[in-house]
Amino acid sequence: MNIGTPYSASATKALLLGAGELGKEIAISLQRHGVQVIAADRYPNAPAMQVAHVSAVLDMTDPEALTRLIREHRPHFVIPEIEAIATGALQALEAAGEAVIVPNAKAIQLTMNREGIRQLAAAELGLPTSKYAFAASYAELLAAVEQQNIGYPCFVKPTMSSSGKGQSMARDAAELQAAWDYAQAGARASTGKVIVEAKIEFDFEITLLTVRALNSKGETETHFCQPIGHRQEAGDYRESWQPQAMSAAAWAESQRIAAAITAALGGLGLFGVELFVKGDQVWFSEVSPRPHDTGLVTLVSQRQSEFDLHVRAILGLPVDAELAKIGASAVILAAAAGENVVYAGLELALEQPESEVRLFGKPQAYPGRRMGVALAGADSVEQARARATAAAAAIKVAPG
Ligand SMILES: Nc1ncnc2c1ncn2[C@@H]1O[C@H](COP(=O)(O)OP(=O)(O)O)[C@@H](O)[C@H]1O
Ligand SMILES: [Mg+2]
Repeated sequence: MNIGTPYSASATKALLLGAGELGKEIAISLQRHGVQVIAADRYPNAPAMQVAHVSAVLDMTDPEALTRLIREHRPHFVIPEIEAIATGALQALEAAGEAVIVPNAKAIQLTMNREGIRQLAAAELGLPTSKYAFAASYAELLAAVEQQNIGYPCFVKPTMSSSGKGQSMARDAAELQAAWDYAQAGARASTGKVIVEAKIEFDFEITLLTVRALNSKGETETHFCQPIGHRQEAGDYRESWQPQAMSAAAWAESQRIAAAITAALGGLGLFGVELFVKGDQVWFSEVSPRPHDTGLVTLVSQRQSEFDLHVRAILGLPVDAELAKIGASAVILAAAAGENVVYAGLELALEQPESEVRLFGKPQAYPGRRMGVALAGADSVEQARARATAAAAAIKVAPG
């Protein structure tokens, strides 16, 4: 792999579609590898734009605007960071050989819609998942739950949504109606459709970061990071830690599932495979064809973070997915809406041993928005979680 010089005719260019906090870390890693970074999002001064060479503000769900952007910059790599993009345009550009879509247009298309990825995982690959059905009306939803053996409690989610948006759990028919209404209001794109899933009574859930990268012979190899445990609240992650202890059988099954789904998606890069674990049993939940928010912990726990692994895999470089140190992350959320946000208490937060913070620099706060993350290493998961949580709690986010 040859790398050129940014701002010159030889530049190796990567276009980030989505310039949030995960994109910011990808941009930093690309920069360190000498790649010219173009960061795009729907609003100016987004986190990754603050560290990119060039930035662009556009509606990425508009296929014409997206195609124009790619033709203007002619990136070697197009790296989607979010799901809400015009995937049809990516497919056309890939088919015409105009850009490498990471990991590939089909994977981006399948994973942006819960229907596509569930069909692939459960029906085609036969991987274990929760019992599920799709419904395009409340009547269909009710029939699926009460007659097709899904039952209560169940989760109702818009087929096109992420970060828990429009998602809720129903324990009876009255709650099911509320869940249907909530899903209709919270969907990203109005497919009008929902997936309903039986609730899995798991012991814990993990993200298995899985990397497809080239070896020295130019063949694709699959690497697994140590499992990341996490705690979700209101459909969004609050804390994550690495490694999550699990039985040898569950670990083998987790790797089998992750290898199967990532091989079916194909391409080079890092994937976040979400799994539910109970004893030796493992269920596939969903997969991101890109770094995962719970994987922010790898900024302190691995020699090569999930962002470095993604970048190295994309560039065709060797990867090392080993754990370096037990670590944990805890999110820093805004409590109120506003701009000119000020962060207080960093000196207190960083009194925690082996701690670090990442403040994302988002220009706008709103209640519950993730504005930063606290990270900590330790000799045990318990200690790492306690340090990261204490550091996050010490930071006060206030609109100016
Ligand atoms: N079928 C299920 N059984 C148990 N918990 C679930 C189920 N589906 C979702 N959850 C919980 O909700 C969280 C978010 O669901 P997920 O499908 O990952 O949505 P998103 O795409 O918004 O991340 C999961 O991490 C898990 O904690
Ligand atoms: Mg998820």
